[in-house]
Amino acid sequence: MLENKNILVGISAGISAYKICELVRMYRKAGANVRVVLTPNALNLVTKLTLETLSNNEVYVNNFEIDEYKPEHIALTESDIFVIAPATANTIGKIANGICDNLLLSTACAFSKPILIVPAMNTNMWNNPIVQENLTKLSKLGYHILEPASGYLACGTSGIGRMREVEEIFDKTVDIMTPKLKGKKILITAGGTKEKIDPVRYISNSSSGKMGLALADTAYSMGAEVTLISTFKTDKPYLNYVTETALEMEKIVKEQTPFQDCVIMAAAVSDYRVENYAKEKIKRGGKCIGPDGETTSLIASGGGKYIMSADNSEATSLNKNAESASNAGLQAECQQGGKCINPEDNSITLKLVENPDILKEICLLPPTLTLPDGEGTRKPIIVGFCAESENLIENAKIKIQHKGCDLLVANDISRKDIGFDSDSNEVYIINRELNIKHIEKDTKQNIAKRILEEIFE
Ligand SMILES: Cc1cc2nc3c(=O)[nH]c(=O)nc-3n(C[C@H](O)[C@H](O)[C@H](O)COP(=O)(O)O)c2cc1C
Repeated sequence: MLENKNILVGISAGISAYKICELVRMYRKAGANVRVVLTPNALNLVTKLTLETLSNNEVYVNNFEIDEYKPEHIALTESDIFVIAPATANTIGKIANGICDNLLLSTACAFSKPILIVPAMNTNMWNNPIVQENLTKLSKLGYHILEPASGYLACGTSGIGRMREVEEIFDKTVDIMTPKLKGKKILITAGGTKEKIDPVRYISNSSSGKMGLALADTAYSMGAEVTLISTFKTDKPYLNYVTETALEMEKIVKEQTPFQDCVIMAAAVSDYRVENYAKEKIKRGGKCIGPDGETTSLIASGGGKYIMSADNSEATSLNKNAESASNAGLQAECQQGGKCINPEDNSITLKLVENPDILKEICLLPPTLTLPDGEGTRKPIIVGFCAESENLIENAKIKIQHKGCDLLVANDISRKDIGFDSDSNEVYIINRELNIKHIEKDTKQNIAKRILEEIFE
């Protein structure tokens, strides 16, 4: 895997520096030639002798130790990758601002091959907007960042900031060095769409977009040309379209799909949108304006309860809508002959109409990609996600047949420890033949990697 690769490891003065001794050993065991550069502060936490013994190479700290005829920061740049782990807030800040007041920093500034930064720090340091801004700047410039995990920290607290395990750093290095998805174009959607009610209110869901983002980051690390369509803005080095509603997302996904080798629909797209967007903020006790200039028909009452309203002719179909809304987690009930404003409880009526089923629609698009031999065309691999709160596998099997996608990734949203807004997930990947692969609970980054490997196996 890393046979004969030249890996430069940079260690700054984070408490997890001792773990990098094991990482150096792992790289060596995988056949790499490893050199280590430390910040002077890191020498307080780990010794040169240990690292020299493990790397079987000289270890560098000072700017002015001359290796043959070249200054060291230039000599060290002749490596295939620079892995800076742990990367302290201080070292990250200096790299992001081009400061070169130690050998590790001068080397980073002169390094033209991939740099992997593995931050580790106290939660408050991590959450400091200055640190985040520095990381965003580096990420945008194409530096690979392996973000920290949440967990127990050396300062005695628990939270985000813990350096990723050395196995994960090792795997990330392999991904960057052997870009398995080089030449592949992958489109990924992420986040929960927002269906506007009025200029300040919307209907949405609890999707954080973390799974989609992990897929996009991992695909990028694995060498893919990534297009992310998300409901939030990112500062990533790959292409990112920001969309808010299902209709906006549909438009861009359909435009981009014909150019992709793979489309992964990880976004939670709202099944319904409000039919009549109110241009002005709806006021308490105010009127709800519909297409007829008077009324609309899904009632959102103060207690967060959604009640379908219909005249007699629409009652049956709206009953169905109420059922779906209920399945989607909304409390819903159908009310025949309901009115826009209920004078008894001041409830408001909003009508929800069905959104396009983007996944199903792109599965129906004609094949456009030219086959490598130039003969014929093919479609991109289309992967859907399904979040279920009950009968996960049965529902997923029905869904893959109904949607017509190549693979479906199913996850159980009834579990508190995984899924929505969590950093972990546990998924089942189902193919067209209804074969199931279980990927056990892991970080979303690791799950993303397993999903991508499964798609392109
Ligand atoms: C015991 C100890 C542990 C530390 N751990 C961290 C850490 O995990 N992350 C971090 O950003 N700073 C940590 N610091 C603070 C840095 O060492 C300090 O900011 C230093 O200036 C960083 O220098 P360097 O980036 O040049 O290595 C720690 C300090 C001490 C004394």
